[in-house]
Amino acid sequence: MEVPSRIGVSQIKGIKGEITVSGDKSISHRAVILNSIARGKGIIKNFLESDDCLNTLDSMRQSGVEISRDNQNNIVINGKGLYSLKEAEDIIDMGNSGTGLRLMAGILSGHDFLSILTGDGSLRKRPMDRIVKPLKKMGADISGRKGDQFAPLVIKGGNLNAVEYELPMPSAQVKSAILLAGLYTEGTTRILEPVRSRNHSELMLKWFGADIKLGEGEIGITGGREIEAQEIFVPGDISAAAFFIVLALLTKSSEILIKNVGINLTRCGILTILNRMGAKIEILNKSKVCGEEMGDLYVRSSELKATTIFEEEVPFTIDELPILAVAACFAQGETKILGARELRYKESDRIKTMVTELRKFGITVEEIEDGMIIEGGSNLSGAHCIGYGDHRVAMSLVIAGMTAAGNTTIDDTYCIRTSFPNFLDLLDSIKCN
Ligand code: S3P
Repeated sequence: MEVPSRIGVSQIKGIKGEITVSGDKSISHRAVILNSIARGKGIIKNFLESDDCLNTLDSMRQSGVEISRDNQNNIVINGKGLYSLKEAEDIIDMGNSGTGLRLMAGILSGHDFLSILTGDGSLRKRPMDRIVKPLKKMGADISGRKGDQFAPLVIKGGNLNAVEYELPMPSAQVKSAILLAGLYTEGTTRILEPVRSRNHSELMLKWFGADIKLGEGEIGITGGREIEAQEIFVPGDISAAAFFIVLALLTKSSEILIKNVGINLTRCGILTILNRMGAKIEILNKSKVCGEEMGDLYVRSSELKATTIFEEEVPFTIDELPILAVAACFAQGETKILGARELRYKESDRIKTMVTELRKFGITVEEIEDGMIIEGGSNLSGAHCIGYGDHRVAMSLVIAGMTAAGNTTIDDTYCIRTSFPNFLDLLDSIKCN
């Protein structure tokens, strides 16, 4: 089904069955980017066919990379090496995707031609100075609107030098932009990471044969070495699975098995937090694909109790905080989400948007500077909500609506296409009314 711009839902009894969620968004972006600058034939299986990842694919096509499909619809990339990209004939539009834009900025900074990167209204409001600063330090001629704060970014790259850079915020996007630019330097770029964030770039760079060394709170990447194209299987996206996990926990008669989900430790904060809240979640059939951990998640209805989510846990569950806020509404006691200021810089200000929308369901929520405090344990009543063009907010509200008495409508939901186009179909296939 096409994703509509208004979604109506009503309370359900539960969800039952076995599902697979679409491929991981972070890994899909990286598989395209690395295969595009590698040497040889790269194949991507279980690629996430969402607007964000398709924009990254198009940005590489615009930069001269040969990309096709095989007879199973897998992505096939004919990589010609680190320096094979060409100047795009037009502005490159990354749509809604912060990951796409920031990672491409890192790659294009290594090239001595002109690139202009832009995005939609939401992306053009998100901070870009966090990548402009380190990329300038590496020698790229890069600037953005309003004193380098915002896209469009204009980049004239090439001739980069290795640097040492301490990340001022735990951001995998910033880290990855620097790592990718680091492929184009002579010498070793050192990134100091006081608080760890998702490590897909590091794992994949290693898998492709880059000269990368991983230490405690520190990463070293040495440029100049070509990387080799790979066949990548993208595990299911835990950020997509999160909506089904929470819905299963909150509804009375639920039991689901979610197959082949990526369970990289730097992404599993949601599982640790929910387990602490009393959730019945088991990980079965653990395996490893292309350097990434994968497993099946078996989830059953549970009684939850409140918890406090602290700053150091936030990066490992940053994208799941909106749906965790929904879970907190059902948990006995007061749940605190602390140290999560980064939420304000996502596709919407997720602290403000989630607090505003949860209140419409009758929940008592306090907005604090770096998070929120949620009074759990009361029943939700159906509401008329807004998704703010933010996919994770919109999907969290759909789930909230399915647990709330009566009917709920959510406006501005078209954005769900950016990360999870078959979200509604999958929900329909397992829900019990
Ligand atoms: C991502 C990193 C995170 C996350 C985003 C995807 C990535 O952002 O919120 O959805 O793929 O690197 P930050 O690194 O900016 O926190």
